[in-house]
Amino acid sequence: MIPPVPSDGLVHEGDLVLLAGKDHKEFIIRLHRGQMFQTHRGVFAHDDVIGKRWGDTLETHLGYEYQILTPSLDQLVRSVQRATQIVYPKEIGYMLVKMNIGPGTRIIEAGTGSGGLTSALARMVMPHGHVYTYESRPDIQALARKNLARVGLSEYVTFKLRDIQEGFDERDVDALFLDVREPWEYLPQVHAALKGSGFFGCVLPTTNQIIALLHHLEEQHFGFVEVEELLLRGYKPVPGRFRPLDRMVAHTGYLVFARALHSAPA
Ligand SMILES: C[S@@+](CC[C@H](N)C(=O)[O-])C[C@H]1O[C@@H](n2cnc3c(N)ncnc32)[C@H](O)[C@@H]1O
Repeated sequence: MIPPVPSDGLVHEGDLVLLAGKDHKEFIIRLHRGQMFQTHRGVFAHDDVIGKRWGDTLETHLGYEYQILTPSLDQLVRSVQRATQIVYPKEIGYMLVKMNIGPGTRIIEAGTGSGGLTSALARMVMPHGHVYTYESRPDIQALARKNLARVGLSEYVTFKLRDIQEGFDERDVDALFLDVREPWEYLPQVHAALKGSGFFGCVLPTTNQIIALLHHLEEQHFGFVEVEELLLRGYKPVPGRFRPLDRMVAHTGYLVFARALHSAPA
């Protein structure tokens, strides 16, 4: 489970911990008594972390310091072991509010990929909602299962191994998100699974794909279509020379949102 800081403010066995070094190197580990952790700056025992306060400093046997922090959802998503491209936190944050995703939401997602988005969705819909995630490749699904187990969120996710061309098992879900190359191929299946007025979203890297999707959305009883792109610029947090970072990620993907209607949009 992603740890809320317990009321005693101490790190416990079984907690998921972010260790952040001065060189900006970060590790996320789950603590087990008796285990050791090897970094490029020396070794420490999990027992050395258990019992410390969140926000304390830990020293490796070489004297290198790491801060002991709770991992944010952003850090967890970025840290998943990857076999595919993942949806980035800047898109995830926005799609959550655009698609009304929160505790109790039932959402379908495809493809599962490395499970980056799945982790964030599970964290948001818990404890009463659920994520149904579809993936056609068994090796990729196995990796996603491992990534979800690592962050303790598996109980909020049902993994399905299937080509979504065959359709979805669930009906009347609140929201459905696609991260596949040709989402327009599956719009009838998407529509059948969504409740009336349900939220559809997808992420696509190229404008050619957006145009193909727009043609098909028009024909398939989806309305209130929006296409958006998010540019995120970081700043150097130095009061004396406050300015943007030299580099930024120029392109991740475009977001498309639409609502499922019972008839053609007016
Ligand atoms: C870009 S990855 C998804 C990454 C994921 N959203 C994340 O954040 O980690 C796309 C995945 O969709 C899967 N996929 C593509 N077409 C599919 C289909 N028709 N049915 C099920 N899965 C599909 C691919 O195997 C691949 O793992």
